Amino acid sequence: MKDVYILAIESSCDETSASIVKNGCEEIGTVVLSQMDTHANYGGVVPEIASRMHIENITLVLDELLIKSKLTMDDITAFAVTYGPGLIGSLLVGLEAAKTLSYVYNKPLIPVHHIAGHIYANNLVKKMQFPLIALVVSGGHTELVYMKEDYSFEKIGGTLDDAVGEAYDKVARVLGLPYPGGPEIDKIAGLGNDSYQLPLPLNDDTYNFSFSGIKSAVINLVHNEKQRGNEIRVNDLALSFQNRVVSILTKKTLKALRQYNVNNLIVAGGVAANKYLRSSLEKMCQENNINLVIPDLKYCTDNATMIAASAYYAYKLGRRADLTLNAKAVDELK
Ligand code: KG4
Ligand code: ZN
Repeated sequence: MKDVYILAIESSCDETSASIVKNGCEEIGTVVLSQMDTHANYGGVVPEIASRMHIENITLVLDELLIKSKLTMDDITAFAVTYGPGLIGSLLVGLEAAKTLSYVYNKPLIPVHHIAGHIYANNLVKKMQFPLIALVVSGGHTELVYMKEDYSFEKIGGTLDDAVGEAYDKVARVLGLPYPGGPEIDKIAGLGNDSYQLPLPLNDDTYNFSFSGIKSAVINLVHNEKQRGNEIRVNDLALSFQNRVVSILTKKTLKALRQYNVNNLIVAGGVAANKYLRSSLEKMCQENNINLVIPDLKYCTDNATMIAASAYYAYKLGRRADLTLNAKAVDELK
C-alpha cells in the first residue's frame, strides 16, 4: 500500500495543534501551541477565550507545521480533525480549518473522537497488541475500554461524576496550587506522608469510578481545618488524595484485565503523565505478567499527533466525513 500521510488538527480544549503522521505511527512533524499560561490567570480554561485564541493561532500552527515537516499539501493523503468531545467553540475552529483544507485540496476528511486519539497515542510508542484494556484518564474522561481489534471500542466502565483530572485540578485549587493542578499535586505529593484519612472512592465490584466524593472530602477537610485555625499539611494531603485515586485506578484496571483475560494494558490521557500512577501500574503489570505501554509525556496531554495516528486506522476502515461534519461537545467513543 502507498504510504499514507495524514495531517490532523486538534483544538478541543486549550491546545491548538497540528501534526503530520506517516502510516499511523511515524511522526513527521507536530506543532502544539498551548494557551495554558493565559487560562492559568483564571484558574481554569475559559471557553470563550480558548476559541478566540484558537482562531488567532490555527493558521500560524499550520504554516509552522509545513515548514517543520518540509512537506507541501500535495504530499498529504487526507486531513483529520477532532470533532468531539470538547469545548464546542474550540472544536469548531479546528473543524472549520480541516473542512476548508479538505475542500480546497480535494482530499478526504476523517473525523476523530478525542479519546480514540488519546488511545492511539500508544501506537506512536509501540504497535498496539490486541486484545487490550485501555485506561483513559484525562481532564474530561476516566474510562476503561476493552478493544479486541483496531477501532473496536467497548466501554466497560467510566466515571459517574468528575473525571480524575478534573478532581486533581479542583483539589489542587483548594490546596492553593496553580492551574493545572494535576502536575502540581504530582510534584508535591512526593514530599509528603500519607497521613490524612480519606476514603477509597467507589471501592465496589463495578468498573465505574467516582471522584466527586473524595474531592468534596478534601475540600471539607481544608475548610474545617481553616475554621479551627489549624494549618493544612499540603504535601501530606496531596499524597493522601493521590494514593487513594491511584489505588482505585490500579485495582479496577487489574480486575478488568483479569475478567477479560487480557494481558495488554495501554494508558491514555493527560493524567497518564502522573509519576505515581505510572509506577503503580508498572508494578501491578510486572506482578501479573501484563504488557504495559504508556505514551511518552508529550503524547499524554492534548496533541494532534495522536489524532493523526488514530485517523490512519479510521482511514483504512473507510471512515470519512463530508463538509456537514459538526462539532460534538459530548459523544460516545465508537
Ligand atoms: O488529556 P488532557 O491534556 O486534556 C483533556 O482531554 O482533558 O488532560 C488534562 C488533565 C488535567 O486535568 C491535568 O491536571 C491532568 O491531565 N494532568 C495530570 C498530570 N499532568 C496532567 N494529573 C496528574 N498528574 C500529572 N502529572
Ligand atoms: Zn485530552
